[in-house]
Amino acid sequence: MSAKPRIAVIGAGLMGHGITQVFALAGHEVTIHDTVMASLDSAKSRILANLKDLGDDVTAVERVQPCHDLDEAVREADYVVEAVPEDLAPKQKLFAEIEQKVRPDTILASNTSVIPITKIMAGLKDRSRALGTHWWNPPYLVPLVEVIGTEWTAQRAIDWTIALHKAAGKMPVHVKKDVPGFVGNRLQHALWREAISLVEHGICDAETVDTVIKTSFGRRLAVLGPLENADLVGTDLTLAIHKTVLPAIESRAGPSPYLEKLVADGRLGFKSGEGFRQWSAAEQTALRAKVLQHLKNARAQDS
Ligand SMILES: NC(=O)c1ccc[n+]([C@@H]2O[C@H](COP(=O)([O-])OP(=O)(O)OC[C@H]3O[C@@H](n4cnc5c(N)ncnc54)[C@H](O)[C@@H]3O)[C@@H](O)[C@H]2O)c1
Repeated sequence: MSAKPRIAVIGAGLMGHGITQVFALAGHEVTIHDTVMASLDSAKSRILANLKDLGDDVTAVERVQPCHDLDEAVREADYVVEAVPEDLAPKQKLFAEIEQKVRPDTILASNTSVIPITKIMAGLKDRSRALGTHWWNPPYLVPLVEVIGTEWTAQRAIDWTIALHKAAGKMPVHVKKDVPGFVGNRLQHALWREAISLVEHGICDAETVDTVIKTSFGRRLAVLGPLENADLVGTDLTLAIHKTVLPAIESRAGPSPYLEKLVADGRLGFKSGEGFRQWSAAEQTALRAKVLQHLKNARAQDS
């Protein structure tokens, strides 16, 4: 493999163009492919706008090569990462095509949010080089990348992928078992399940749930994880709390009927102007800007 591995990113949407940006900024030559021309053709201008906004080296965009042809995108690649929509069958089909076009030592990765990598890669002839890399949005501001191996993935593929992401300035972690949602989305959606349940059962309204989190343990979360916190207060106190609280909190296996009804009623959140709460266009813009600024401040603090 080359000293600076050549990267191919498949899917130029929200995640794909951001992942491309990170690798290009780290000095890699990156090909990017999308089946929708408008998405592919706008990828470089979206990356350039991000680089300018962040004060990063704008010449990085020159290392990005959009390819209308999948074959051209992956042929020379040392590493291919897929960021097409979250749907199992098209991802399986795509990897079957990619496997025929790449070199035997090219590492293949999926950026799926929650689908087990085992399912996506099951049909490949060589599954030892296939794994998951779960990035977070926006890829150029959120440090974490979960690297997920299956029972077939070679340790050297995992080690190589972790080193690749570390060298690109990311915070890769190794997820040892391929479970739905990996680590981050399991934790995140355990919290969302209880948040929705509190509203469903009239314990408080949606705004209160968010206020409680943002003004209490949310303040500490970026520097104090739950297990650090458990050690800090004592595992004995944590045990005592769990004996009282765990039997009372939400444990249903499927989605909340409250959430099902929101969706059935067309209350889809920002896209329909109402979800758990109502959202004017100005409120949506303000919240997006607030999150972006918060993440930029965190990146500035990190560096
Ligand atoms: N959005 C997030 O916050 C987030 C975070 C982590 C992981 N993910 C995961 O990343 C993946 C991509 O998500 P996204 O938000 O970027 O989606 P997106 O809809 O913004 O982008 C997907 C892109 O893939 C293209 N595409 C579809 N089929 C294709 C094909 N066969 N070949 C090439 N391109 C194709 C589409 O035209 C589109 O441009 C999903 O699996 C998603 O679950 C998303």
